[in-house]
Amino acid sequence: MNSRELLKKFPIISEQINKPKLQVILEILERLIMAKIPGDVVELGCYKGTTSLFLQRLLKLTDKKLYLYDSFEGLPEKTSFDMSTAGEQFKPGELSVSKKMLAYEFKKANLDLPFIKKAWFKDLTPADMPKNICFGFLDGDFFDSISDSLKLCWPLVSNNGVLVVDDFSNEALPGASRACHSFFNQRSDYKFNTSAGLGIYIKK
Ligand SMILES: C[S@@+](CC[C@H](N)C(=O)[O-])C[C@H]1O[C@@H](n2cnc3c(N)ncnc32)[C@H](O)[C@@H]1O
Repeated sequence: MNSRELLKKFPIISEQINKPKLQVILEILERLIMAKIPGDVVELGCYKGTTSLFLQRLLKLTDKKLYLYDSFEGLPEKTSFDMSTAGEQFKPGELSVSKKMLAYEFKKANLDLPFIKKAWFKDLTPADMPKNICFGFLDGDFFDSISDSLKLCWPLVSNNGVLVVDDFSNEALPGASRACHSFFNQRSDYKFNTSAGLGIYIKK
């Protein structure tokens, strides 16, 4: 089933992602699969699996594996880069679900359980990650969360592989785009575009 059919057939189980964003995410992954870009798929900040379920559905007939990471304790503390009057609802501990609840969503959807790791992103090392990344969805909301995710994932991204950063254009979560600018500022090994408010980084 292709990404459009998947989006028609299956429900979006939380408000953490909307249909236009999912469409972009799944179409990018679909293109990478067709182009045989090597590596697996990661999501840093998976919450209850709203996006992860769709990623796993798309990966069903491929040899790529899905790797999910979350504190399962909700959001960490904000830093000064995250401050925005539009984003006061995003507080430490918000968006907390258990690993068990996430696993249950995969069971309910009749999907194979992906690799799931409970950790703060700052504590992850390359040993916790797949060897190569073909596609990554970074959705940790805050400056440090996205910075830590980029530092960890970008060196593992295959040529022509892609990292998609959520909340790139979200004024309630300014830390996400600030982390991207600060990370990519000194680099030249990427192409950038944006769609549906997502930041899309393609490895050159
Ligand atoms: C917006 S939610 C993710 C939504 C999910 N991607 C989806 O599509 O449903 C953000 C998640 O990131 C996690 N998170 C944020 N910063 C983190 C960090 N530094 N380390 C670990 N988890 C983090 C939170 O626990 C939360 O579950």
